[in-house]
Amino acid sequence: MRTAFAIAAFLAALIDSAFAQTPNELLIRRGDYLVNAVMSCNGCHTPRGPKGPDMSKMLSGGMTFDEPEFKVTASNITPDPDTGIGKWSDDDLRKLLRTGIRPNGEAVAAIMPTAFYVALTERDLDAIVAYLRSIPAVKNETPAPEYRIKQPRPPAPLVKAAMTEADQIDPVKHGRYLATIAHCLECHTPRDNGKINLKRIGAGGVEFKGPFGKSTSANITKNKDLGIGTWSDDDIRRAITQGIAKNGEPLKPPMNFTGYARMTPQDLSALVAFVKTLPARK
Ligand code: HEC
Ligand code: HEC
Repeated sequence: MRTAFAIAAFLAALIDSAFAQTPNELLIRRGDYLVNAVMSCNGCHTPRGPKGPDMSKMLSGGMTFDEPEFKVTASNITPDPDTGIGKWSDDDLRKLLRTGIRPNGEAVAAIMPTAFYVALTERDLDAIVAYLRSIPAVKNETPAPEYRIKQPRPPAPLVKAAMTEADQIDPVKHGRYLATIAHCLECHTPRDNGKINLKRIGAGGVEFKGPFGKSTSANITKNKDLGIGTWSDDDIRRAITQGIAKNGEPLKPPMNFTGYARMTPQDLSALVAFVKTLPARK
C-alpha cells in the first residue's frame, strides 16, 4: 500500500514538473498569444517574403509607410542590442506601447497603433514585454524615421484608459477589450481628413493596397443592408478566423485570419458578441 502511494506521489510530481511553468514562462505564453493571435504585430513588423511574413526573421523590421506627414518603417523589435530593442528597459517598452513616446522623447507615427494600446491591462503589457525579450535576436538595420511634422496621436474609438481584468468579467466588455487591442476599428472606421471619424465607428470603406491588389474594409456594424446585421455568430466567426464571407466568397488581406484562428473559443465568442453591439452606421 505504502509503495503504491509513494509511486503515485512520485508520478504526480513527475507530471507536475513536466507541466510546471514559472510565472515568467506563463507571462511569455500570454505575450505570444497577444502578439501573434490577437494583435498582429507581425503584419507590420516582420519582413515579407513571396509567401507572406518571413517568420524566420520575425519582428525584425517590416513595412514602410510613405505618407505626406512621415516616412517610417516598422522597427526591428527583436532583442538585438544594435538594430533592435535590446538596450531598451522594460519601462521604455511599456511607455512606448502605452504612449507612443520613444526613450529619446520622440513620438512615433500613429500608424503604430499605440492609441489602441492605451487599453492594455498591466499584466498584458508585462506579457508583451516578456515575450519580446524571449524571441531570437535578429540583426537588421531599418531606415531611420523621417518626420515632416510633429507626429499627432488622434484618440482611438471607444478607448479611454487602461482596462483591468475586473472590467472584463462581462463577455461583451471582454470582447471590446480584444477588439481594441486588435485595432479592428482602426481598419474598419472611415477617416475624415486623415482622422478616424468617431461618428461612423465600424462603417468600413478604408482602402488597402498590397501585393494582393486592393481591398476595402467592410461595414461591420448592425446595418442590415451595408453591414453584418443579418449575419449569424458563426458567419462572423468564420469571416474572422477563415477569411470567408457570409456568401462563401474569400476575403482579401490584410486581416490576420491565421492569427485570429488561434484565438481561444471563449475569446472568439466574446469578440463576436462585442462586434454585434456596434450601432448601425452608413
Ligand atoms: C499597423 C502596423 C503596426 C502594427 C500592427 C504594430 N506596429 Fe509597432 N510600429 C509600426 C511602425 C510603422 C513603427 C515605426 C514608427 C515610427 O518610426 O514613427 C512602429 C514602432 C514600434 C516600436 C518602436 C521601436 C523603435 O525602435 O523605435 C515598438 C516597440 C513597436 N512598434 C512594437 C509593436 C508591438 C509589440 C506590436 C504588436 C502588439 C506592434 N508594434 C504593432 C507599425 C506597427
Ligand atoms: C489591417 C486591417 C484590418 C484589421 C486589423 C481588421 N480587419 Fe476586418 N476586414 C478588413 C478588410 C480589408 C476586410 C474586407 C476584405 C474583403 O472584402 O475582401 C475585412 C472584413 C471583415 C469582415 C467581413 C465582413 C464582410 O461584410 O465581408 C469582418 C466580420 C471583419 N472584417 C471583422 C474584423 C474584426 C472583428 C477585427 C478585429 C479582430 C478585424 N476585422 C480586423 C481589414 C481589417
